[in-house]
Amino acid sequence: MTADDILREMGLGPVWKLRAAPAATPVDDSAAPSPAAAGSVPEIAPAGAPAADAAMAWDELAEAVAACRQCRLCEARKQAVLGVGDVNADWLFVGEGPGAEEDQRGEPFVGQAGKLLDNMLAAIGLKRGQNVYIANAVKCRPPENRTPMPEEAAACRPYLERQIELIRPKLIVALGRPAAQTLLQTEIKIAAARGKLHDYRGIPLIVTYHPAYLLRTLLDKAKAWEDLCFMRRTMQAHLEPDARRH
Ligand code: URA
Ligand code: SF4
Repeated sequence: MTADDILREMGLGPVWKLRAAPAATPVDDSAAPSPAAAGSVPEIAPAGAPAADAAMAWDELAEAVAACRQCRLCEARKQAVLGVGDVNADWLFVGEGPGAEEDQRGEPFVGQAGKLLDNMLAAIGLKRGQNVYIANAVKCRPPENRTPMPEEAAACRPYLERQIELIRPKLIVALGRPAAQTLLQTEIKIAAARGKLHDYRGIPLIVTYHPAYLLRTLLDKAKAWEDLCFMRRTMQAHLEPDARRH
């Protein structure tokens, strides 16, 4: 059985359909510009120096992460996985940590959970790399895909914080409990935390289920769908006032 078969069986594939949106708001999808469109704007530096600094900051960050030995997750990794996507993205999705395929390929969410994440992104008009950045709470693969230990998440957090400073996303989506707890620095339960707007240093943050959990848990699929609608509404209503029709 392929991942596509599983997704189809769950009613999630090949792509979640926008028209099924239960939380119908007066937003007209067909007329609203796609949020992904902004991501296709070329990254032109407004004035040389800041962009050069940002590029250097990313280079330094990538080097530091690649060589990092701040926690024991460095021991079994093939490579650290910094993140992927548009460094000027409005949307930042944060997962838990690389799995086997991510460790192998050096890119987050390229395995089965990644296929579901890509479908979730497509459902709200987004595409990997276009106005979207994808990162993880820890950059090195935890052995046996276990949940990162609190001290590992704490050791790795400065890298994620730096990524957020550089990207300055308009909305952060925490995928699952470890990501949410790392970002919010507090114990949470997904069931209680979803459906609310949280705050990460002034940036709105939404908590939802991790795609790998959704692959195992059919019952929460509808809730994940509600969360996707909430994300889209939040971005459209609060954060993209220009996208609304007058
Ligand atoms: N799960 C995650 O949390 N992150 C990945 O990159 C892949 C699977
Ligand atoms: Fe460093 Fe993070 Fe990897 Fe730990 S998980 S070794 S802190 S990059």
